[in-house]
Amino acid sequence: MFTMQLLSTSSADIEKAAAAIKAGLLVAFPTETVYGLGGDAFSPAALAKIFEAKERPRFDPLIIHIAEMDALSRIVDIASLSALAEKNLAILAERLWPGPLTLVLPKRAEVPDLATAGLATVALRCPSHPVAQKLIRLSTGAVAAPSANPFGFLSPTRAEHVRNQLGDRVDYIINGGRTELGLESTVLDLGRNSPAILRLGGASREAIEELIGPVELSVGSAPDKPLSPGQLESHYAPRAPLVLHRQGELASIPEAADEGRLYFSSPGNIVVPERTRVLSQSGDLPEAAANFFDMLHQLDGLGLELIRAEQAPAYGLGAAINDRLRRAASNTKEYNESQLL
Ligand code: TXA
Ligand code: MG
Repeated sequence: MFTMQLLSTSSADIEKAAAAIKAGLLVAFPTETVYGLGGDAFSPAALAKIFEAKERPRFDPLIIHIAEMDALSRIVDIASLSALAEKNLAILAERLWPGPLTLVLPKRAEVPDLATAGLATVALRCPSHPVAQKLIRLSTGAVAAPSANPFGFLSPTRAEHVRNQLGDRVDYIINGGRTELGLESTVLDLGRNSPAILRLGGASREAIEELIGPVELSVGSAPDKPLSPGQLESHYAPRAPLVLHRQGELASIPEAADEGRLYFSSPGNIVVPERTRVLSQSGDLPEAAANFFDMLHQLDGLGLELIRAEQAPAYGLGAAINDRLRRAASNTKEYNESQLL
């Protein structure tokens, strides 16, 4: 068993964390999306520890985080890229990196199979958070990091979420406060004939299409062969069952005891403030996204029987919020039959 140590974002502490990654240990660190659970992407032993700490199935590959474009050629088999993929990579890396976009590309043989779950492709992201940037640069230049939560549960947007959920399964946690975006990166597969979004996230479909033209949306998981293994039906789940409601519908439903509520925007009248959260009073999408996991963590900490949640508008970051709500609610299908997104 490890003993977890909490670190600050001082240079000395980031250096300590970088040394730990070089030594094959695990460091949870802030990114602009959510906290990641990082380890050396080229160390199979460190990768195995990540899967163990998260209790993550080995068929679900990790994202490798880089800080500089030079690192790309160590990881991606650039020679095997199609002309279209090469062009799209150049545009997206130039315009949306560093940032909340993960690109799926053909991998080099040197990338351990454990990182990619044996796939021929690798997921790559260059985060913009200065602490993540510095940690990657000072360590091995390539840090594998899934979201720092047990598999299937709510993603962490604060160091406390990591401590509460993973505790001593991680060697160090760098406390960088609350993450700015609050939702994971968008996963975009560039390796196919036409680019496809495998996970909606911090970079909106609209922003991507403005740069490279139409992209497919492939976020459902076909039971036989999921395109993005992590896109399981049930994910991002709070402990309490979650029931979805259309926008505006929730306020008129009588409130039961032991029931929590997650409104997208102000419902006007809040019945039980302690058990109610509003993602954004004014209905601002970035504000709502930043509050999303944090407020679900808060509600879930109250030991409720049920959480009723209102959907966000179905565009931009709202589509990414709705995707997570749908997966969070998928264990409670019986409640949700009439509420499908
Ligand atoms: O914002 C984020 O992306 C955060 C921070 C820490 O960077 N990371 C994160 O990682 O959300 P994780 O492991 O929770 O989600 C990674 C997703 C999974 O759905 C996984 O299946 C998908 O990326 N993925 C990874 N490699 C893939 C590949 N080669 N092909 C398709 N999907 C892949
Ligand atoms: Mg995750």
